[in-house]
Amino acid sequence: MTDKTDQDRVLIFDTTLRDGEQSPGATMTHDEKLEIAALLDEMGVDIIEAGFPIASDGDFAAVSEIAKNSVNSVICGLARANFKDIDRCWEAVRHALQPRIHTFIGTSPLHRAIPNLTMDEMADRIHDTVTHARNLCDNVQWSPMDATRTEYDYLCRVIEIAIKAGATTINIPDTVGYTAPRESADLIAHLIADVPGAEDVTFATHCHNDLGMATANALAAVDAGARQVECTINGLGERAGNTALEEVVMALRVRNDIMPYQTRIDTRKIMNISRRVAAVSGFAVQFNKAIVGKNAFAHESGIHQDGMLKNAETFEIMRPEDIGLSETNLVMGKHSGRAALRAKLKDLGYELADNQLKDVFVRFKALADRKKEIYDEDLVALMSESSTDPARERLSVKFLRVICGTEAPQSADLTLSIDGVDKQVTAQGDGPVDATFNAVKALFPHTARLQLYQVHAVTEGTDAQATVTVRMEEDGRIVSGQAADTDTVVASAKAYVAALNRLILRREKSPLGSDRKEVSYKDVS
Ligand code: KIV
Ligand code: ZN
Repeated sequence: MTDKTDQDRVLIFDTTLRDGEQSPGATMTHDEKLEIAALLDEMGVDIIEAGFPIASDGDFAAVSEIAKNSVNSVICGLARANFKDIDRCWEAVRHALQPRIHTFIGTSPLHRAIPNLTMDEMADRIHDTVTHARNLCDNVQWSPMDATRTEYDYLCRVIEIAIKAGATTINIPDTVGYTAPRESADLIAHLIADVPGAEDVTFATHCHNDLGMATANALAAVDAGARQVECTINGLGERAGNTALEEVVMALRVRNDIMPYQTRIDTRKIMNISRRVAAVSGFAVQFNKAIVGKNAFAHESGIHQDGMLKNAETFEIMRPEDIGLSETNLVMGKHSGRAALRAKLKDLGYELADNQLKDVFVRFKALADRKKEIYDEDLVALMSESSTDPARERLSVKFLRVICGTEAPQSADLTLSIDGVDKQVTAQGDGPVDATFNAVKALFPHTARLQLYQVHAVTEGTDAQATVTVRMEEDGRIVSGQAADTDTVVASAKAYVAALNRLILRREKSPLGSDRKEVSYKDVS
């Protein structure tokens, strides 16, 4: 037994870089994955699922690199139930100080039908693959995918086989977000009571949010004996997402009176990593999201504000500082100097080298000229733009002027720099954004289809910056781009161009349709 801990200690297993990255359009670059992994490692995540090494060379490279760099966390990779996947996974994670192989197979009737295995054949497969993984690595996690829709007796049988073959963690996935809290607790409690050897392993819970119950199901499982919670930052993940790390951790902290379990997470790092994941994945956090939503600590009604002024605890069950939100939000303006900017950014979790600071300072001053008050959110938006490497961008917006208003047609006069050469066009469209996107297409023809166009006001006021997110798809490759500007149309043009720059890189690096992942969950021998 390698990772069973004190009875009241709950291990946090973060799968933002694997299950989270699986949501279409959330694909992150290599450098972004390394950055997020470093933040997870630093905040005290016990296990980082860094990717699915067989899925692509990019996934393999990211998992290997994260394994080499991580200091505190166990680094885990995912593998289907076959030797080739498991070997590739081991090749990537073996560089870690604490490596883990996570292998899985779908055990419910619907999932057994895909590789067309009988119950006995699948049981043999589980024995062979877990044994193989354990011969490579002494920390092996096994998951019966779609466990919550698997026949109970069969589930007990295959878990026992996995434990006997050497699995040290048994994860119980609610793959389709089907279970409910009481059922989730009962399942874990019964498995721990009924499966021989259960006392020697750690049971984990892995919940999806299709019915909005992922966090409740995970906490119920903990109450019933699970001691590892699988989750993602901001609840990122396929369909409705996964259990959100910040929700589980803060619920255990705030309601320790009724859920007396501890995690190792430094909660003050939550806000920063939430913002970074939102920026790099292109999945903005909804305003009313628990813990990390913009409104989570906003008190608008008079009665609430009055209560807050007298005693914050009247309407707040946790303090903004607990998740790393500073109390004073408004601090920077056009008279702020470089040192103040550096200190403020450090506060927000960004440590900059001198040359990076120089670039950010220029853009900060440009923003401060247009906008009187610079809030934390403005700086975060500024930073998410600067995380792209200008040297690798083939396209950039040089000039944009739009004509819009009640009289159609609206038009956009656009100059793009394409491979260092300025190109200009005027295009019309149904509104200023449509005209701008048509102009981009005229200068850089492509067949990518727009899947998502989203505008977010970063702060209040008519001079607020808008963060625009654009997601597009071309031949199965899905990319997103984000940009912020006080002018929504300029932000839209920059976001569109940022997505195209990513698409160009993706065309060079990966074959057609690679974002649908080259592997499916179908098992291969
Ligand atoms: O949801 C799920 O079943 C998974 C498995 C691969 C563990 O993510
Ligand atoms: Zn999952």
